[in-house]
Amino acid sequence: MPSPSDSIDPANGVSRRSFMQTLGASAAAASITSSAQALEQRPSLKREPGVEGPGPIDIVLDVNGQPRRLRVEPSTTLLEALRLQIGLTGTKEICDRGSCGGCCVILDGKLVNACMMFAADAAGAKLTTVEGLASGGALQPVQEAFIRHDALQCGYCTPGFLVASAWLLKETPKPSLDQIKKALSGNICRCGTYTNVFNAVLEASGQPVLIDPILS
Ligand code: FES
Ligand code: FES
Repeated sequence: MPSPSDSIDPANGVSRRSFMQTLGASAAAASITSSAQALEQRPSLKREPGVEGPGPIDIVLDVNGQPRRLRVEPSTTLLEALRLQIGLTGTKEICDRGSCGGCCVILDGKLVNACMMFAADAAGAKLTTVEGLASGGALQPVQEAFIRHDALQCGYCTPGFLVASAWLLKETPKPSLDQIKKALSGNICRCGTYTNVFNAVLEASGQPVLIDPILS
C-alpha cells in the first residue's frame, strides 16, 4: 500500500476507503504497521530504543521547505505539531482517527494522515501541507480549478482534498475518473461536493469535465 496511514495507489486500486472500512482497532493496527514500514524505508529516521523520551524531545520538521525546530512530547501527533506548535492550521483536525482525510499532508512523496503518525516519526522527512501547495503567490492549477468549479461549500474538507488532489496529479498527471475517485476516496465531504471536486481534478489534468445530469 502506498500509504503509511492511508495513502493511495491509483495503479493497484488500494484506496483509503477500503482502509477506512476497517475502522477502529484494525485501522489503528494498519496505521501502526504502515508507520513502521515508512520508518523502515527511511533508515535515517530509525532511533535507538530507549534513547528518547519519555520526556519532551527535540525534533526538526522540514515543512514546506522550511526547517522547524520543535520540542514535543513523544506522543505528539504530526497534526498537533503542525497546528498547535507551528501554527499551520490549514491541516484540519476533524475525526482524529484516520477516517476523513481532513489532515492529509505529503510526506516524502506519500500521502498520509497527519493525525495518524507521531511528529517525531516525521523528523527528517520533507513535508508539504496545504499552505505549501502555492508557489510564489501562484496557486497550483488544481487549486484554481477548485475555485472555478466551486468545489466546496463549508470548505472544511477542502485543504485535505487539495493536498490529496495535488498528490494524485503529481503521481498520475492524467488520472482516469476511477483513479480520481479511488485517490480521493479517503476524503470525506459532508457537504457533498464530490462531482465538483472530480471536475476540478479532471480540468486541472486537461481532461473533459463531467456533465451533471441534475444541473444540465
Ligand atoms: S483528522 Fe486525520 S483523517 Fe480525519
Ligand atoms: S465542503 Fe463542507 S465538508 Fe466538504
